[in-house]
Amino acid sequence: MKKKRKKKIKKIWEYIGIFIIIILIVLIITYTIKLFSPSKSKEKNIPYSNEAISIMKEKNIFDKIEEKEYSKTLETMILNHELKEEYIDAYYEIKASDKEEFPKLINLFLDKKYTPVEINNILEYLSDENINKLKEMNYTECNDFLKISNLNIEKIERYKAYMAANQTTPQDAVTKVNIGLDIDFYSQIETIKNPDSYTVLLNKYRGLPEDYVPSDLTPLSTYSSYKLRAKAAESYDQLESAALLDNVKIIPFSAYRTKNYQSGLYNRYVNRDGKKAADTYSARPRHSEHELGLAIDVRSSTLSDNLTEADYQWMQNNSYKYGFIIRYAKGTTPITGYIEEPWHLRYVGIEVATDVHDKNITYDEYYDLYLKDKEN
Ligand code: DAL
Ligand code: ZN
Repeated sequence: MKKKRKKKIKKIWEYIGIFIIIILIVLIITYTIKLFSPSKSKEKNIPYSNEAISIMKEKNIFDKIEEKEYSKTLETMILNHELKEEYIDAYYEIKASDKEEFPKLINLFLDKKYTPVEINNILEYLSDENINKLKEMNYTECNDFLKISNLNIEKIERYKAYMAANQTTPQDAVTKVNIGLDIDFYSQIETIKNPDSYTVLLNKYRGLPEDYVPSDLTPLSTYSSYKLRAKAAESYDQLESAALLDNVKIIPFSAYRTKNYQSGLYNRYVNRDGKKAADTYSARPRHSEHELGLAIDVRSSTLSDNLTEADYQWMQNNSYKYGFIIRYAKGTTPITGYIEEPWHLRYVGIEVATDVHDKNITYDEYYDLYLKDKEN
């Protein structure tokens, strides 16, 4: 009985031994397979194309790359034969993009010492036009400016100088420098190319072509000695009637002026008050909106050359409905360079006048922010 039991226990131990040996053999085999074919199994998991992998191997960089996460940028660089080995780490941080010339572009910016973070921002936010300009420039720190819609990257150093001198925001600096406010009035003049546009901007930096004369000047209905361009004249008639319905009687005292007339006027003021003073209230010839046939000066019936406070209030609340803005409103002198002129109305059309009124900014700023791209 005892013998039988001993035999049984021996058998159990034999089975356990065999079981352990089998497990050991399986473990050894699995480990050996792993040990001898590591690259093969990893390579299968690598999502790079075969072409990319073979180029990596040719360049002896496969081992380095296969250990890392997949990078579409890196693959794009490899397949476009633009890979620079010193930039491999940077490629991992740069987001792939469909931009034309992407591989060349990122190498160029890396050459200029832009960081991957800066490059990502440049590619995400900067317009193609600005990217093309940036390609031609030396490295410049520009992160704070990239999202600004009216940015002209070529002027970046001027923006920075204006910001520092005026303690202002990047957006404000961009708009002000674009207007020209970091240089003296009349020191650099651009001749406008679209004088017939109803929304054209004239100021102390932008002048009319020497020979420009509007072609559709039309007398006003009630004061026929004054003329404006057709649409502006018609709109002025409507404005005048609407005002009258609200008991606001307005009378024009200047509308279209020829170049010679503006010239005579300006020179008379210069002789009387000196150039510096004249420039604060009179435009030099070719810089007056009156020469466009789109500006009209209006007075209250009780005053010789101004609006009463009540009439001005009415004008502020209503003129935009007929396409007119108050071009030189209170507080705008630092931007326009002219003293406040409550009487000077400028026709720009209802849509633009309404938007300028709602945004409550000068036409110089509005033009740079919202119109210049459409006009050019
Ligand atoms: N008085 C305005 C600025 C002009 O001369 O056009
Ligand atoms: Zn005027």
